[in-house]
Amino acid sequence: MTTTDPFPTSLLDDEDVRVLLLENIHADGADFLRGKGFQVETRDGALSEDELIEAIQGVHLLGIRSTTYVTDKVLAAAPDLLAIGAFCIGTNQIDLAATSKRGIAVFNAPYSNTRSVVELAIAEIISLARRLHEKSTDMHNGVWNKSAAGSHEVRGRTLGIVGYGNIGSQLSVIAEALGFKVVFFDIDDKLALGNAQRCSTIEELLQISDVVTLHVDGRPGNAGLFGADEMAQMKPRALFLNLSRGIAVDTAALRSHIESGHIAGAALDVFPVEPKRQGDPFESDLRGLPNVILTPHVGGSTEEAQQDIGRFVASKLRSYASFGGTSLSVNMPEINLPVDSTKHRLALVHRNAPGVLATINGLLGEHEVNIEAQSLSTRGEIGYVLTDVSAEIGPDVLKELASLPETVRLRQLT
Ligand SMILES: NC(=O)c1ccc[n+]([C@@H]2O[C@H](COP(=O)([O-])OP(=O)(O)OC[C@H]3O[C@@H](n4cnc5c(N)ncnc54)[C@H](O)[C@@H]3O)[C@@H](O)[C@H]2O)c1
Repeated sequence: MTTTDPFPTSLLDDEDVRVLLLENIHADGADFLRGKGFQVETRDGALSEDELIEAIQGVHLLGIRSTTYVTDKVLAAAPDLLAIGAFCIGTNQIDLAATSKRGIAVFNAPYSNTRSVVELAIAEIISLARRLHEKSTDMHNGVWNKSAAGSHEVRGRTLGIVGYGNIGSQLSVIAEALGFKVVFFDIDDKLALGNAQRCSTIEELLQISDVVTLHVDGRPGNAGLFGADEMAQMKPRALFLNLSRGIAVDTAALRSHIESGHIAGAALDVFPVEPKRQGDPFESDLRGLPNVILTPHVGGSTEEAQQDIGRFVASKLRSYASFGGTSLSVNMPEINLPVDSTKHRLALVHRNAPGVLATINGLLGEHEVNIEAQSLSTRGEIGYVLTDVSAEIGPDVLKELASLPETVRLRQLT
């Protein structure tokens, strides 16, 4: 395996692949990559731009979490970098346009913590229905308030899920097992799981749900999705949860609906403005309200999720470095050509222009290189083609391929 810099004349063996993992990524990630023969360096903290530029020299695979920023300046100073693993969900900390331009693949872990969010939502729904948080606070204050008033079972109640994606749909299945009738609203066509029923409008869902829970994504149109109008349409004494995006909810409106008693309780894990660092003060309209559970954006934060993220992203990095696989990449066209150890593989990232495949194949044909398998995919301005051939490709052919005006990056993998 080699990069286009200067020209791909020698293979880079797995033992020569250098990996830098920052920000205390779960040890399973490093163990997995070491098990594949890669050289792995780990560091606990995040790095500043200058520190990263220094640390990234000679590094082929970089692993970060949410506080290391990978800017165009960093990428420009990292000619050997093949891929970045964001060992988290978000990728805002990476200049994705710049990675695509340079043919650097980015991977993240979009599903690893979904079960953790679902379990917290279930715990909070039951806690709110039984007013557990309030009763526990009373007890800590020395108050023995043994009463059934305002405490309910969830069995037979209607749960309204807004956003039926990875999290919303898992929640649907578990909530039904608890005896909930589940209804949902999603702007996309989604398959209803179990006995869940689709609502054709959010208004319909609000009018019939005893519990409303938001699991929408962060698209710009979702800012202010849930305000005074939506709250007013909820059933009296219904419960409300948001573990998705802070910007989706008008917290001042929620406060007034809780104070008026129209909404009987709420659980919020995400906020329009969240403290940047551990220990920074937390300000919100929702502080100090009864039967309101506030948690510091920990819906997906479990040791199980961290472990899963570690393994998942490490396996994506390995697959890309060794075999060129890009399935679930954040920025690259998705290709997963089956690995055949008897073949030699070329991975070429190119500008998405007409005729590139014909040029590559014409060039290989001229040099009597027989193509055994090939897959091409494009995404925006970038194209990616994996080509398996029966014999190792000579340096002259590689040099010609690397010199094509459309070539962004070329690697010979095996
Ligand atoms: N609290 C946490 O720690 C935590 C952890 C993980 C994920 N999340 C957040 O949870 C949310 C859901 O995650 P996911 O993995 O299920 O995402 P997803 O992309 O799989 O699902 C989101 C769903 O919401 C739907 N949707 C978007 N806007 C909508 C709208 N206005 N009305 C109705 N439906 C709408 C989409 O069509 C999609 O089906 C995301 O915002 C994610 O960032 C929070």
